[in-house]
Amino acid sequence: MIKPPIPRMGGKSKLRKTILERIPEHTCYVEPFFGAGWVYFGKEPSKVEVINDIDKELINMFRMIKYHAPEIERVLEYEFSGRDMFEEYKHCTVEYLTEIQRAVRFLYLISQSFAGKGTTFGYGTTSKPAPQIFYQGVLGNIKERLRNTYVENKSFGDIIKRYDRIHSFFFCDPPYFETAGYGNEFGEQEHLLLRDTLSQIKGKFMVTINDHPKVREWYKDFNIEEVQVPYSIAKEQKARKEYGELIITNY
Ligand SMILES: C[S@@+](CC[C@H](N)C(=O)[O-])C[C@H]1O[C@@H](n2cnc3c(N)ncnc32)[C@H](O)[C@@H]1O
Repeated sequence: MIKPPIPRMGGKSKLRKTILERIPEHTCYVEPFFGAGWVYFGKEPSKVEVINDIDKELINMFRMIKYHAPEIERVLEYEFSGRDMFEEYKHCTVEYLTEIQRAVRFLYLISQSFAGKGTTFGYGTTSKPAPQIFYQGVLGNIKERLRNTYVENKSFGDIIKRYDRIHSFFFCDPPYFETAGYGNEFGEQEHLLLRDTLSQIKGKFMVTINDHPKVREWYKDFNIEEVQVPYSIAKEQKARKEYGELIITNY
């Protein structure tokens, strides 16, 4: 099992074992809402794998790790954890950077910020700075794992339709319903579009999402299992206390 290179709000670290036990037989594994990819990095590789996220900087980072991990590590070796550097990366003009520089920037901002959000410099009086990314060799196993994987950067609907076959399995971990987002809108309309798209596929799907009466109603024609997730970061506690988590499948 590999640990993802970044933290991500809603990351499935705590639920990963439960999810892995419920993955059905398949040939093509597709993750339309990849984030940090806890499930992908935790499972045995499938014959064909597809990872996708709408976040351009996130996907650029994985693409660059796949093809240029040694260069990213070389640049990061000269960096250190500092508030000034954090602010410089945060405010630089992304359009002027190369794809490798954008990947370094993203890795730096996410790993050095509070709750991995990339917005506020993370520091503490009980925790040390996070230096892992500044050492050579940290990206090697991620690069190897990505070697035979298609890396996409589209909205989920396109990906699900494109890769849908009878032998495909879609692990869908969309943003929680009615909780803080990732910078792009994901409200009731998007959740219904996801439900409608999944309702028509030939392959198998699993959706993980917060337990909400509306979610239960939308997916009432499928198998719904309630699972308990240990709490992690403070912002998520509220949502989880209120809703718990659901695993929904069509198999
Ligand atoms: C709950 S997170 C996924 C966490 C992931 N399972 C993990 O273990 O880290 C949801 C992800 O969906 C992405 N996302 C939001 N809207 C999307 C869309 N329309 N299409 C594809 N991805 C989207 C976000 O950028 C975010 O990374």
